[in-house]
Amino acid sequence: MKKILIINGPNLNLLGKREPDLYGNLSFEAYLEILQSQYPTCEISYFQSNTEGELINKLHEADLEYQGVALNAGAYTHTSVALYDAILAIETPVIEVHISNVHTRETFRQVSRIAAACMGVILGFGLDSYRLAVEAFLNRRTDPC
Ligand code: DQA
Repeated sequence: MKKILIINGPNLNLLGKREPDLYGNLSFEAYLEILQSQYPTCEISYFQSNTEGELINKLHEADLEYQGVALNAGAYTHTSVALYDAILAIETPVIEVHISNVHTRETFRQVSRIAAACMGVILGFGLDSYRLAVEAFLNRRTDPC
């Protein structure tokens, strides 16, 4: 069974209440139940923290435990060299995920400090961005094509 870890960063514990026009009305816990039911043969784990160091520790722990990490680093995406280094330091592939299309928003959100360390980036599909990341891991080819 494939094991995938979703990591959410700061303020994403408030999904469902926070800026619903941008991020929707559903809590992440409610979304996760739906997502898990769509992928019964895949074990999807979830971790959220508002603290940069805890996100880094979780990436270290996740290494080789999971086949992939879908990381929505929230605002740390745009600032954190430490998260970039943590992604580079582990072997498990990481996909950068965003609910909103950050390229249509403030200019500071159009810069990602972590994208270059990631396998790919999925953004702008609402909560479905997480499912698309799961799909990408499940369909991943490891041989060069
Ligand atoms: C976000 C976009 C970030 O710019 C913002 O700081 C977030 C959420 C998104 O999922 O769209 O917290 O990562």
